[in-house]
Amino acid sequence: MTSAIQDTQTDHAQTLPTHPLEPLSRSEIERGVAILTGSGELSGQLAFSSVSLVEPPKDAVKTFTPGGPFTRALRFLGVDESANGRQAGSFDARVNITTGELLEVQRLSGGQAPFGGRDLVQSIKLTKADPAWQAAVRRRGVEDMSRVQIDMWPGSGPLPDGVDPTHRLARTIAFVREDKTDNGYARPLQGLIAHVDLTAGRVVHLEDHGAAVLPPESGRYEASHQPSLRTDLKPISITQPEGPSFRVDGYAVEWQKWSFRVGMHPQHGLVLHTLSYDDAGERRSILYRASLADMVVPYGDRDPMHTWKHVLDASEASVGNLANSLSLGCDCLGEIHYFDMPTLLADGSVYTIENAICMHEEDYGVLWKHRDLLSATTEVRRSRRLVVSSFFTVGNYEYGFFWYLYLDGTIQMEVKLTGIVGVSAVETGAEQPEFAPLIAPNLASPIHQHLFCFRLDFDVDGENNSVYEVDVEPVPHGPDNPNGTQFRAKTTLLESEDAARRDTAPQAGRSWKIVNPQRTNRLGVPVGYKLLAGATPTLFAQADSYVGQRAGFAQHNLWVTAFAPDELSAAGDITLQSPGGEGLLRYSRDRNIEDTDIVVWHTFGLTHIPRPEDWPVMPVEYAGFSLMPVGFFERNPALDVPPSPHACK
Ligand code: NI
Repeated sequence: MTSAIQDTQTDHAQTLPTHPLEPLSRSEIERGVAILTGSGELSGQLAFSSVSLVEPPKDAVKTFTPGGPFTRALRFLGVDESANGRQAGSFDARVNITTGELLEVQRLSGGQAPFGGRDLVQSIKLTKADPAWQAAVRRRGVEDMSRVQIDMWPGSGPLPDGVDPTHRLARTIAFVREDKTDNGYARPLQGLIAHVDLTAGRVVHLEDHGAAVLPPESGRYEASHQPSLRTDLKPISITQPEGPSFRVDGYAVEWQKWSFRVGMHPQHGLVLHTLSYDDAGERRSILYRASLADMVVPYGDRDPMHTWKHVLDASEASVGNLANSLSLGCDCLGEIHYFDMPTLLADGSVYTIENAICMHEEDYGVLWKHRDLLSATTEVRRSRRLVVSSFFTVGNYEYGFFWYLYLDGTIQMEVKLTGIVGVSAVETGAEQPEFAPLIAPNLASPIHQHLFCFRLDFDVDGENNSVYEVDVEPVPHGPDNPNGTQFRAKTTLLESEDAARRDTAPQAGRSWKIVNPQRTNRLGVPVGYKLLAGATPTLFAQADSYVGQRAGFAQHNLWVTAFAPDELSAAGDITLQSPGGEGLLRYSRDRNIEDTDIVVWHTFGLTHIPRPEDWPVMPVEYAGFSLMPVGFFERNPALDVPPSPHACK
């Protein structure tokens, strides 16, 4: 009896969040589902897409004191499958689980709730049941339908006649596997696209652009399918005999003067909140919230199998729900702390992704060094970084998102791209290598981009910040520059949202500096952080194309907007089958962004011209950016890092 009571109390204690930004617990999600389904506002036939925490107002978070009251609100996206006297289709519902109230149910028009697990199951089932599709597969020499792999893509963008754009739609493409564990992408069923109407429950249009040869080679990448494995890789063991240097309290982390909170959002993935740095006893804020705000993968190929592809993986596929369970020694090495994340399944049950977020420390080479020749002394310090990371599988592709915090105040985001590239089967002699280079015999891979937009809600020493663009420019010949050797850093205030739609300029060494104009350092200069972009493209699709409009954020590398609590998603709040023109294209409307609460949006990524070396599985490619203190500290903030215990010469 006693132990039963204790168990109940323990369980109860675990279900109560201790901070307004704490990720949703299993029991909170279950309570939200019960309130929503019990409200009578929706039918009994729901297919959930996602649940997220409705983040409380900034003020409420900033004035929160431990133990103080706060309310918890949840946002559910999904599909109400039965009309039940009302409009069937996608819904957006908000529930207050503190008071037990249903706050609102919106029936969506002009877009669909993101894809969820049920959409994939239904798309596969409906495609395989379609007689015309079966006949087209047989014409391609495949009789055993169980060997056919179906991939689901959004029904966004242009649609053929006869497909009802107000319905929930998917496109499916198909591949053949030799057996259940084969890599199906080695053998695409070229030319075949099924348009699945999930609302009507059938394939409503079949595109058949003509078959091509099945590529002859398999694409097995598992160890058991390699002719031999290297035998000369010696073990590397990472040990921290005294344990890691971080402290974790729930989802709050402290490491080397940094403090922040970790979370996972279904559409924004890994989220860092309230990131601050302890500077000589003063806790100085840098970022209120930092996360992915959307991403797009547009294809440049003219092959009808790919022309329409431009998936917004974050908002259309709910990337956060696709987090991998990470494992020690495989995804992360060393002394690891894992965070679990509960997610909502289509049927309203909760599934906890164990080890969804991995956190550990890494040695990162030399932090700083100098050898003084006169005294023959050397000072050198080791760099170390804290890594907070997650990996997400979206169909054929994997995306790793890695936040790094460094001892010198630098913050870095690194995206790791891996997995399997998109493919076409191509007849010998019909290749178009400028659009889709061959990566294996009779297998081509279309040119495409991966463009990520990160939303960085800066709070550099407080909410009111300004952004400057810094370019380095040569000084023209003249009396002041007789030798033509001079160059200077030119700093320009970005005064308005319109003026702050900017692109990278590597030849000018362009960076953007986020400053607090109200606080100066001891040299009289406003404290700040600068955004250092990597080598990155913008969107190649035309701005007025459906891709340019649906993923408008990718038209520029930088956007700055005035803070608004409901402006969180770079392509808009609801994107599946939306016409576009939303997100940053609407948020950025020439509001003042000087000395006010601002949000910086950085679009970056890479253009992928596939290589044979990307097949059958792609070695990681990297994209990302850094945030570096610039006059934020008085001097190198890492002078107090102790020397290595080794004697350094
Ligand atoms: Ni790629």
